[in-house]
Amino acid sequence: MVSKELARAREYEKTEGDKISDADRPVYHLSPRIGWLNDPNGFSFYNGRYHLFYQYHPYDSFWGPMHWGHAASDDLITWDYLPAALAPDTEYDGSGCFSGSAVTLPDGRQLLMYTSCEADGEDPLGRWKQSQSVAVSCEAEDGSIEYVKYEGNPVITGDDLPEGGDPYEFRDPYIWETPDGYRAIIANAVTTGGKATQLSLYRSPDGFSWEFDKVLFEDSRRIGVMWECPNLFPLDGRWVLIASPMNMEAEEADGSIRFPKGNNVCCMTGTYDEADECFTPDAPDSEGHVYHPVDCGLDFYAPQIRNFDDGRCIMTGWMQDPSMANLHQEGISIFGQMTIPRELSIRNGHLYQQPVRELEAYRKDRTALRGVTIGPEPESLPGIAGRSIDMDLAVSMKEGSRFSVRFAYGRDLYTEITWNPELSVITVDRSHSGQQRGITSRRTVKVRGRDGRRGRLGMRLLIDRWSAEAFINDGEQAISLTYYTDPSAEGITFSCDGRATLDVTAYRIET
Ligand code: FRU
Repeated sequence: MVSKELARAREYEKTEGDKISDADRPVYHLSPRIGWLNDPNGFSFYNGRYHLFYQYHPYDSFWGPMHWGHAASDDLITWDYLPAALAPDTEYDGSGCFSGSAVTLPDGRQLLMYTSCEADGEDPLGRWKQSQSVAVSCEAEDGSIEYVKYEGNPVITGDDLPEGGDPYEFRDPYIWETPDGYRAIIANAVTTGGKATQLSLYRSPDGFSWEFDKVLFEDSRRIGVMWECPNLFPLDGRWVLIASPMNMEAEEADGSIRFPKGNNVCCMTGTYDEADECFTPDAPDSEGHVYHPVDCGLDFYAPQIRNFDDGRCIMTGWMQDPSMANLHQEGISIFGQMTIPRELSIRNGHLYQQPVRELEAYRKDRTALRGVTIGPEPESLPGIAGRSIDMDLAVSMKEGSRFSVRFAYGRDLYTEITWNPELSVITVDRSHSGQQRGITSRRTVKVRGRDGRRGRLGMRLLIDRWSAEAFINDGEQAISLTYYTDPSAEGITFSCDGRATLDVTAYRIET
């Protein structure tokens, strides 16, 4: 039985969402069918297709009572919208179905595990009690997938928290299969004893009945409060913990910002002893760092990572700084998009990210230029322009200190990425992209030269209407950002305050 809340959301997204023209959406990044999107949820391969759910408020382009939107894809690049999967329609989740993840049960059904938010009439601050619930797939009469909430929900409540755990800040279950059933890590704040945040581990034989196992990880405010959307997964012989801490203090190193003040995404590599269920981070690197930024741009949060049966480990994130979400103008029909799904690997102890290889099938109109000399005047190159672009740059700096690429360039508006090999930094800057509000517009990131050569840089730049993602030196660093420059600004220029040589291969992406 589909609840009236879910039926209403589905009717609305069908009638209103299907009116949104392709020209108002990114070309190859997933955006909400209508309204608002935040975190990726339930990223999975199920019944022969990739599935990606998302935090969804269909009725407005601002955050509101959370539903789960649903999309499916054969190749992670083009997505078909499926009917919304979950709506806040029960007593225990009437204030929102928050983030969560998915597994396939042995009987072939898909299980979604999510955070259910329930209004607490007795709480003077009007907060929601957060507990964890599940829903399982079944086939609807018309052959589509339905998700039925389990009658035993919620399956984990505030009573199952470790001592001092905060039942109002308890969310984002990340579930995985083990030989004896399932485990889930869930983020919770702590109200006593100085420990600000924990990742608690829960166990279940069947995905429905759960018990507290142990605190897997805790931190006393050094790395922000509340580690939202945790992920724990094996990769290239290591284990990786990636989570999204809220309200971090800024961290600077060598004149660049490792972490800006606010919400960030952190990665730790280490070992996970599956028998003892113990995650041990690797020893600090040569600069003394245990945790690292996952993306060094301006817009990246709450990624979800999954290991797929073809051996790939793939991450997609919400391409948005949450502190600057909700600052956009009213009256637009959609807001929010995911990053390109990224294949992860570990090289020399470091997390590398590359756009999924499936993107290459959508490349059109190849332009390849070799050995182009770039001077001080911003110069466009023949055949290189547009707002749906996959472009590979190999820069070699001969003289001077700065090489810049400007894109979404037109009528004095542009967004710019500048590389300074002398200082070994990249600066991304959207100060001139036409936004009205005084949002954070620049970030400076430490980079190494390609293959250890200071004057060389490799950069793959994906431009998709209102976003850009730069993958530096084969994915050693990723830099994601959004901007809202009118799509008619299609210019791309290159400049160098001395002399640089550039090899560039660019394609238009068409889906
Ligand atoms: C992260 C987050 C999650 C929560 C969801 C609510 O962006 O705050 O912790 O589950 O968004 O939409």
